[in-house]
Amino acid sequence: MKIKSVNLDQVAGFASQFPNDDFEEIAFAGRSNVGKSSFINSFLDKKNLAKTSSKPGKTKTINFYKINDKFRLVDLPGYGYAKVSKTEKEKWNNLIHKYLYERENLKEVFLLVDIRHAPTKQDKEMYDWIIDSGFTGFVIATKYDKIPKTHLKKHIKEIMKTLNIDDEGLIFAYSSITSHNKNVLLEQVEVIVNS
Ligand code: GTP
Ligand code: MG
Repeated sequence: MKIKSVNLDQVAGFASQFPNDDFEEIAFAGRSNVGKSSFINSFLDKKNLAKTSSKPGKTKTINFYKINDKFRLVDLPGYGYAKVSKTEKEKWNNLIHKYLYERENLKEVFLLVDIRHAPTKQDKEMYDWIIDSGFTGFVIATKYDKIPKTHLKKHIKEIMKTLNIDDEGLIFAYSSITSHNKNVLLEQVEVIVNS
């Protein structure tokens, strides 16, 4: 698939601000700081489209990007960031839940995990929910540039074991710096959009 156009359709701090139409959506979920916004920028070849930060808790809204006037990619706020107030945490969780549980446009959810570490308990809960909800269970293992290539298998195995995944083909090692696996994921997204 070729990315011909990208438009920020909506920035939603409340569920009432989610776009009200039928465009299908592919969402990217994962822990705060795992690299969701960086992935979107790199995947779309737009350096500063989604705001990123070395400090967790950067994305606080749900951001909807229209691609090729055909479907949307959705950048979600991260979970698992301890250093925010309880009220703020509840607000984000509420927003994420409202999106994931109730959004009819949602066609597929990718879970992003950091390739360097075993997925957390919250990652596992999120993954179980993704599978239970009938989504395929694709995983993007981010920050691939931070491990030696010779360790790839070991890290993928660890992710498979922790998340209880049998099919290695569901996991894509990704680097938003080198864009490793971008073309494979572009093809995968095309399959999803056309299915
Ligand atoms: P929240 O919005 O807080 O949920 O975080 P996020 O998941 O959107 O993470 P973000 O994209 O803001 O990236 C967090 C940090 O990780 C930034 O400092 C990025 O530069 C860095 N980062 C993300 N992806 C990669 C990657 O593939 N390789 C390297 N080396 N750094 C990355
Ligand atoms: Mg972000």
